[in-house]
Amino acid sequence: MKTQVGIIGGGPSGLLLSHLLHLQGIETVVLEQRSRDYVLGRIRAGVLEKGFVGLMEKAGVADRLKADGEVHASFSIASDGQMFDIDMAGLTGGDTVVVYGQTEVTRDLYAARDSVGGQVIHEAQDVTPHDVLTATPYLTYRTGDELHRVDCDYIIGCDGFHGVSRQTIPREKLNVFERIYPFGWLGVLSRTRPVSEGLIYARSARGFALCSLRSRVLSRYYVQVPLQDRVEDWSDDRFWAELKARLPGPVSERLETGPSIEKSIAPLRSFVAEPMRYGNLFLAGDAAHIVPPTGAKGLNSAASDVHYLYEALLAHYHENDESGLESYSEKALARVWKAQRFSWWMTNLLHDFPESGAFGQRMQQTEIDYLISSRAAQVSLAENYVGLPF
Ligand code: APR
Ligand code: PHB
Repeated sequence: MKTQVGIIGGGPSGLLLSHLLHLQGIETVVLEQRSRDYVLGRIRAGVLEKGFVGLMEKAGVADRLKADGEVHASFSIASDGQMFDIDMAGLTGGDTVVVYGQTEVTRDLYAARDSVGGQVIHEAQDVTPHDVLTATPYLTYRTGDELHRVDCDYIIGCDGFHGVSRQTIPREKLNVFERIYPFGWLGVLSRTRPVSEGLIYARSARGFALCSLRSRVLSRYYVQVPLQDRVEDWSDDRFWAELKARLPGPVSERLETGPSIEKSIAPLRSFVAEPMRYGNLFLAGDAAHIVPPTGAKGLNSAASDVHYLYEALLAHYHENDESGLESYSEKALARVWKAQRFSWWMTNLLHDFPESGAFGQRMQQTEIDYLISSRAAQVSLAENYVGLPF
C-alpha cells in the first residue's frame, strides 16, 4: 500500500488529523491496534475548548457536537464547604467550553471517515515504523498471519501513551519529563440526574472530588483515591458516601445516587517527551505528553498538536514550504508546556497531598482565598480553562 501520511492510532488525534488532511486532498491511512468497539468503549473526559471545537468545525464534523454538546460558561470550586463560581465567559470576554463526551467525538470522526471511504484499519497488530530517518519511511503491520506494508512520506504517531511511536525513537534522542502523583481518580458513570448544571471541582480534607456530567440524565463523578486502591475496594455505596462527604452540605443533600454503569481508577501523571519529531516521524497527543485530568486538558492538548501538524503538512504539500514541519516540535511544545503547567497547578490546588504537611495545606487554603478575592487570579484560571490560543 502507498499513501502520503501514515498515521498510527485511531483515537481522536489520529482520526481528526486524517479527516482534516483528506479534505485538503492529502491521503492518509490510519492503523489502529484495537477494534472499533473497544475504542468506542473507552470513557474519557469531555470538556472541549474553543480551539478543539473550531478544528471539528473545520473538519465538518461539528453538527452533533453543536446539537448535543452543552455550552458551559462557568464552573464551581468548592473548598472546605464554601463554594464559588468561576464565570469563564465574564472573565474572558465571552469564551466558553463545550461538554461533549470524548467517545462521541471519536464516534463522529469514525462516521466522517467512513462517509468518504477513509482507510482506518482496525486490529492492525505489531505496527512498526521503519526508515524514519530517510525520505522513504514505511510502516508494517500484521492482520492474522498476513504481513502488510504501507509506504508513505511521513509517519504520525497518534498512538497514545503506550504506543509504539515514541518507543521507536532512541532513548538518547528523547528528553523525558515526568511527575507521578501519589493518588488516582476513581470515576463512576451513573444514569442519574447531574447534581449541578455546571462542573464542581471540590477540595476537602478527605481529598478531591469532581462532579461532571455527560448529559441531563448521565452523571460522571470522581474521587481522589490512594494509588494502591482497586475498583473492587469500592462498592457503589462506599463511593456515594465518600463523594457526599467531600461535597458542601447543600450539594450532597441533593445528590441523586444510583447503580454505577462504569467504574474505573486512573493514575495521575504529568509527562512530556521532547522533541516531538524524529526524522520523518512526528508525535501528537498522548504519544508525546500526558496531563493529570484536573482541568481536562488531555484531549485539548492533543488538538493543538493536530492543528500545528495539519498546518505544517498543508504548507508542505500545497506550497512546498517546509518551515511548519521544521518548527513543529518547538511550536507544539510551547503550548503543551502551558497546558502542563495549568494541569499541574490545578492538581496541586485541589488534591490532598499528605506528605506536603501543614505548610502545604495552608498554602493551598491561601491560594483558594486569593482566587476567591482576586479577579486577576480568576482571569488567569479562566483563560487557561477555556484554552490558550493555538
Ligand atoms: N499500534 C496501533 N495503534 C495503537 C498502538 C499501536 N502500537 N498503541 C496504541 N494504539 C491506539 C490505541 O488503541 C488508541 O486507540 O492509538 C490510539 C491512541 O488514542 P488515545 O489514547 O485516545 O490518544 P489520542 O488520540 O492522542 O487522544 C488524546 O485525550 O483525554 C485525552 O488521554 C485522553 O485519549 C485521550 C487524549
Ligand atoms: C469528565 O467529565 O470526565 C471530566 C471533566 C472535567 C475534568 C476531568 C474529567 O477536569
